[in-house]
Amino acid sequence: MGEPHVSPRSPFSSAELTNEPILASRPAKPGSGRIALPHGRTEDRAHRDGRTVLDRWLDSVVTTPGLTAIRDPDEARRVLLDDAVRGVPLIAKEDGPIVDVGSGGGTPGIPLAASLPSREVTLLEAERRKCDFLERWTTELPNLRVVWGRAEEQPLETYGVAVAKALAHPPTAVEWCLPLVRQGGAVLLWVGASADEEAVATAAAQIAGQVEPAPTGFLVVRKTGPTPPGFPRRVGVARKRPLA
Ligand SMILES: C[S@@+](CC[C@H](N)C(=O)[O-])C[C@H]1O[C@@H](n2cnc3c(N)ncnc32)[C@H](O)[C@@H]1O
Repeated sequence: MGEPHVSPRSPFSSAELTNEPILASRPAKPGSGRIALPHGRTEDRAHRDGRTVLDRWLDSVVTTPGLTAIRDPDEARRVLLDDAVRGVPLIAKEDGPIVDVGSGGGTPGIPLAASLPSREVTLLEAERRKCDFLERWTTELPNLRVVWGRAEEQPLETYGVAVAKALAHPPTAVEWCLPLVRQGGAVLLWVGASADEEAVATAAAQIAGQVEPAPTGFLVVRKTGPTPPGFPRRVGVARKRPLA
Protein backbone atom coordinates (compact mmCIF):
# COMPACT_ATOMS: atom_id res chain seq x y z
CA MET A 1 0.00 0.00 0.00
CA GLY A 2 1.13 3.57 -0.25
CA GLU A 3 0.89 4.44 -3.94
CA PRO A 4 -1.58 6.94 -5.18
CA HIS A 5 -4.49 5.21 -6.79
CA VAL A 6 -8.16 5.41 -6.88
CA SER A 7 -11.82 4.47 -6.43
CA PRO A 8 -15.00 3.64 -4.16
CA ARG A 9 -18.07 3.71 -1.94
CA SER A 10 -19.33 4.49 1.54
CA PRO A 11 -21.72 3.31 4.10
CA PHE A 12 -22.17 4.93 7.43
CA SER A 13 -24.92 6.67 9.22
CA SER A 14 -24.07 6.27 12.88
CA ALA A 15 -25.45 9.36 14.60
CA GLU A 16 -22.14 9.75 16.37
CA LEU A 17 -20.10 9.78 13.22
CA THR A 18 -22.23 11.82 10.92
CA ASN A 19 -24.59 14.70 11.43
CA GLU A 20 -27.80 16.02 10.07
CA PRO A 21 -27.21 17.53 6.67
CA ILE A 22 -28.66 20.91 6.07
CA LEU A 23 -28.28 23.06 2.99
CA ALA A 24 -26.18 23.22 -0.06
CA SER A 25 -26.26 21.90 -3.52
CA ARG A 26 -29.54 21.90 -5.32
CA PRO A 27 -29.71 22.44 -9.03
CA ALA A 28 -29.64 26.22 -9.51
CA LYS A 29 -32.56 25.73 -11.88
CA PRO A 30 -34.34 22.46 -12.49
CA GLY A 31 -32.68 20.81 -15.45
CA SER A 32 -29.98 23.46 -15.67
CA GLY A 33 -27.28 20.92 -14.86
CA ARG A 34 -25.64 23.40 -12.49
CA ILE A 35 -25.21 23.12 -8.79
CA ALA A 36 -25.56 26.07 -6.44
CA LEU A 37 -22.75 26.35 -3.94
CA PRO A 38 -22.22 28.53 -0.85
CA HIS A 39 -21.52 32.22 -1.35
CA GLY A 40 -23.52 32.24 -4.56
CA ARG A 41 -20.81 30.38 -6.47
CA THR A 42 -21.84 27.97 -9.15
CA GLU A 43 -20.16 24.78 -10.21
CA ASP A 44 -20.66 24.54 -13.92
CA ARG A 45 -17.88 22.51 -15.39
CA ALA A 46 -19.41 19.10 -16.04
CA HIS A 47 -21.34 18.65 -19.04
CA ARG A 48 -21.54 15.07 -20.01
CA ASP A 49 -25.19 14.24 -20.66
CA GLY A 50 -25.98 17.76 -19.49
CA ARG A 51 -25.23 16.78 -15.91
CA THR A 52 -22.59 18.06 -13.55
CA VAL A 53 -19.69 15.93 -12.44
CA LEU A 54 -21.19 15.97 -8.94
CA ASP A 55 -24.52 14.64 -10.20
CA ARG A 56 -22.77 11.85 -12.08
CA TRP A 57 -20.51 11.07 -9.13
CA LEU A 58 -23.53 10.86 -6.83
CA ASP A 59 -25.31 8.43 -9.16
CA SER A 60 -22.18 6.30 -9.38
CA VAL A 61 -21.69 6.13 -5.63
CA VAL A 62 -25.25 4.94 -5.14
CA THR A 63 -25.17 2.37 -7.94
CA THR A 64 -21.68 0.96 -7.35
CA PRO A 65 -21.83 -1.97 -4.94
CA GLY A 66 -19.99 -1.60 -1.68
CA LEU A 67 -19.71 2.17 -1.45
CA THR A 68 -22.82 3.19 0.43
CA ALA A 69 -25.87 1.59 1.97
CA ILE A 70 -27.94 4.52 0.71
CA ARG A 71 -30.16 3.71 -2.26
CA ASP A 72 -32.56 6.65 -2.31
CA PRO A 73 -31.24 9.41 -4.62
CA ASP A 74 -32.63 12.27 -2.51
CA GLU A 75 -31.14 10.89 0.66
CA ALA A 76 -27.83 10.33 -1.12
CA ARG A 77 -27.80 13.97 -2.25
CA ARG A 78 -28.58 15.16 1.25
CA VAL A 79 -26.09 12.93 3.09
CA LEU A 80 -23.22 12.58 0.62
CA LEU A 81 -23.30 15.91 -1.20
CA ASP A 82 -25.20 18.65 0.63
CA ASP A 83 -23.75 17.73 3.99
CA ALA A 84 -20.22 17.75 2.57
CA VAL A 85 -20.68 21.20 1.04
CA ARG A 86 -21.65 22.60 4.44
CA GLY A 87 -17.92 22.41 5.28
CA VAL A 88 -16.84 24.68 2.42
CA PRO A 89 -16.99 28.01 4.31
CA LEU A 90 -14.96 26.54 7.18
CA ILE A 91 -12.30 25.12 4.89
CA ALA A 92 -12.15 28.24 2.75
CA LYS A 93 -10.86 30.09 5.83
CA GLU A 94 -7.89 27.70 6.09
CA ASP A 95 -4.76 27.64 3.91
CA GLY A 96 -3.05 24.83 2.11
CA PRO A 97 -3.83 21.49 0.54
CA ILE A 98 -6.73 19.43 1.85
CA VAL A 99 -6.81 15.72 2.64
CA ASP A 100 -10.03 13.73 3.06
CA VAL A 101 -9.09 10.85 5.35
CA GLY A 102 -11.10 7.66 4.77
CA SER A 103 -12.84 9.10 1.75
CA GLY A 104 -14.79 5.93 0.95
CA GLY A 105 -16.91 6.77 -2.08
CA GLY A 106 -15.55 10.33 -2.15
CA THR A 107 -17.36 12.34 0.45
CA PRO A 108 -16.62 14.97 1.59
CA GLY A 109 -13.55 15.23 -0.68
CA ILE A 110 -15.15 15.21 -4.13
CA PRO A 111 -17.79 17.87 -3.35
CA LEU A 112 -15.02 19.96 -1.72
CA ALA A 113 -12.76 19.63 -4.77
CA ALA A 114 -15.59 20.79 -7.03
CA SER A 115 -16.44 23.67 -4.69
CA LEU A 116 -12.84 24.85 -4.17
CA PRO A 117 -11.19 24.39 -7.58
CA SER A 118 -8.05 26.33 -6.62
CA ARG A 119 -7.29 23.97 -3.72
CA GLU A 120 -5.58 20.61 -4.08
CA VAL A 121 -7.73 17.88 -2.55
CA THR A 122 -6.27 14.46 -1.77
CA LEU A 123 -8.58 11.52 -1.13
CA LEU A 124 -6.82 9.13 1.26
CA GLU A 125 -8.45 5.73 1.42
CA ALA A 126 -7.27 2.40 2.85
CA GLU A 127 -9.24 0.14 0.51
CA ARG A 128 -7.80 -0.33 -2.95
CA ARG A 129 -11.16 -1.12 -4.57
CA LYS A 130 -12.56 2.18 -3.35
CA CYS A 131 -9.46 3.99 -4.63
CA ASP A 132 -10.09 2.55 -8.09
CA PHE A 133 -13.54 4.13 -8.05
CA LEU A 134 -12.22 7.48 -6.74
CA GLU A 135 -9.50 7.68 -9.38
CA ARG A 136 -12.12 7.95 -12.13
CA TRP A 137 -13.07 11.42 -10.96
CA THR A 138 -9.54 12.85 -11.18
CA THR A 139 -9.89 13.23 -14.94
CA GLU A 140 -12.76 15.67 -14.43
CA LEU A 141 -11.53 17.47 -11.34
CA PRO A 142 -7.93 18.50 -12.01
CA ASN A 143 -7.33 19.51 -8.38
CA LEU A 144 -8.20 16.01 -7.15
CA ARG A 145 -5.72 13.21 -6.38
CA VAL A 146 -6.09 9.85 -4.73
CA VAL A 147 -3.77 8.06 -2.33
CA TRP A 148 -4.25 4.43 -1.44
CA GLY A 149 -3.05 3.93 2.12
CA ARG A 150 -3.71 4.26 5.82
CA ALA A 151 -3.56 7.56 7.66
CA GLU A 152 -1.08 6.15 10.18
CA GLU A 153 1.44 5.42 7.42
CA GLN A 154 1.46 8.73 5.53
CA PRO A 155 4.12 11.47 5.53
CA LEU A 156 3.59 13.81 8.48
CA GLU A 157 2.57 17.47 8.44
CA THR A 158 1.83 17.67 4.74
CA TYR A 159 -1.58 19.33 4.55
CA GLY A 160 -3.18 22.58 5.65
CA VAL A 161 -6.46 20.88 6.48
CA ALA A 162 -7.52 17.28 7.13
CA VAL A 163 -11.22 16.49 6.89
CA ALA A 164 -13.07 13.31 7.80
CA LYS A 165 -16.65 12.14 7.82
CA ALA A 166 -17.73 8.84 9.36
CA LEU A 167 -14.10 7.75 9.60
CA ALA A 168 -14.05 6.45 13.18
CA HIS A 169 -14.94 7.30 16.77
CA PRO A 170 -14.01 11.04 16.86
CA PRO A 171 -10.99 10.75 19.25
CA THR A 172 -9.56 8.07 16.95
CA ALA A 173 -10.32 10.14 13.85
CA VAL A 174 -8.45 13.08 15.39
CA GLU A 175 -5.48 10.88 16.26
CA TRP A 176 -5.31 9.71 12.63
CA CYS A 177 -5.83 13.14 11.07
CA LEU A 178 -3.82 15.58 13.18
CA PRO A 179 -0.33 14.21 12.36
CA LEU A 180 -1.08 14.80 8.65
CA VAL A 181 -1.58 18.54 9.24
CA ARG A 182 1.08 21.26 9.40
CA GLN A 183 1.47 23.37 12.53
CA GLY A 184 -1.17 26.08 12.47
CA GLY A 185 -3.43 23.93 10.29
CA ALA A 186 -6.68 22.27 11.30
CA VAL A 187 -8.68 19.06 11.37
CA LEU A 188 -12.37 19.34 10.51
CA LEU A 189 -14.62 16.44 11.51
CA TRP A 190 -18.26 16.03 10.51
CA VAL A 191 -19.87 14.71 13.69
CA GLY A 192 -23.26 13.75 15.02
CA ALA A 193 -25.10 15.24 17.93
CA SER A 194 -23.80 12.60 20.33
CA ALA A 195 -20.12 13.26 19.62
CA ASP A 196 -18.17 13.76 22.84
CA GLU A 197 -16.26 17.02 22.41
CA GLU A 198 -14.48 16.60 25.74
CA ALA A 199 -13.09 13.24 24.70
CA VAL A 200 -11.86 14.79 21.46
CA ALA A 201 -10.23 17.65 23.41
CA THR A 202 -8.51 15.13 25.72
CA ALA A 203 -7.19 13.14 22.76
CA ALA A 204 -6.16 16.26 20.85
CA ALA A 205 -4.20 17.68 23.80
CA GLN A 206 -1.92 14.61 23.69
CA ILE A 207 -1.02 15.15 20.03
CA ALA A 208 -0.57 18.92 19.83
CA GLY A 209 -4.17 19.77 19.12
CA GLN A 210 -6.72 22.15 20.58
CA VAL A 211 -10.48 22.11 19.99
CA GLU A 212 -11.88 25.38 18.66
CA PRO A 213 -15.46 26.65 18.55
CA ALA A 214 -17.29 25.26 15.51
CA PRO A 215 -20.79 25.25 14.03
CA THR A 216 -23.17 22.46 15.05
CA GLY A 217 -22.28 19.24 13.31
CA PHE A 218 -18.56 19.94 13.16
CA LEU A 219 -15.53 19.62 15.39
CA VAL A 220 -12.49 21.76 14.58
CA VAL A 221 -9.09 20.91 16.08
CA ARG A 222 -6.17 23.31 15.59
CA LYS A 223 -2.64 21.91 15.35
CA THR A 224 -0.66 23.88 17.91
CA GLY A 225 2.79 22.26 17.73
CA PRO A 226 4.83 19.48 16.17
CA THR A 227 3.54 15.91 16.24
CA PRO A 228 4.92 14.44 19.50
CA PRO A 229 7.34 11.51 19.45
CA GLY A 230 5.55 8.17 19.42
CA PHE A 231 2.82 9.34 17.02
CA PRO A 232 1.27 8.21 14.85
CA ARG A 233 0.94 4.97 16.78
CA ARG A 234 1.16 1.63 14.96
CA VAL A 235 -1.73 0.61 12.69
CA GLY A 236 -4.63 -0.62 14.80
CA VAL A 237 -3.50 0.90 18.11
CA ALA A 238 -5.57 4.09 17.97
CA ARG A 239 -8.75 2.05 17.63
CA LYS A 240 -7.74 -0.56 20.21
CA ARG A 241 -6.45 1.89 22.82
CA PRO A 242 -8.03 5.28 22.11
CA LEU A 243 -6.45 8.33 23.72
CA ALA A 244 -9.81 9.21 25.28
C1 LIG B 1 -17.52 4.54 7.02
S1 LIG B 1 -16.51 4.91 5.67
C2 LIG B 1 -16.87 6.63 5.41
C3 LIG B 1 -16.52 7.04 4.01
C4 LIG B 1 -16.87 8.49 3.66
N1 LIG B 1 -16.04 9.44 4.36
C5 LIG B 1 -18.33 8.76 3.90
O1 LIG B 1 -18.66 9.58 4.74
O2 LIG B 1 -19.13 8.12 3.19
C6 LIG B 1 -14.88 4.96 6.39
C7 LIG B 1 -13.78 4.80 5.35
O3 LIG B 1 -12.52 5.04 5.99
C8 LIG B 1 -11.58 4.12 5.49
N2 LIG B 1 -10.56 4.00 6.55
C9 LIG B 1 -10.72 3.45 7.78
N3 LIG B 1 -9.60 3.59 8.50
C10 LIG B 1 -8.71 4.26 7.71
C11 LIG B 1 -7.37 4.71 7.91
N4 LIG B 1 -6.73 4.50 9.04
N5 LIG B 1 -6.76 5.38 6.90
C12 LIG B 1 -7.42 5.59 5.73
N6 LIG B 1 -8.68 5.19 5.49
C13 LIG B 1 -9.32 4.53 6.47
C14 LIG B 1 -12.38 2.84 5.24
O4 LIG B 1 -11.76 2.02 4.29
C15 LIG B 1 -13.71 3.41 4.76
O5 LIG B 1 -13.74 3.52 3.36
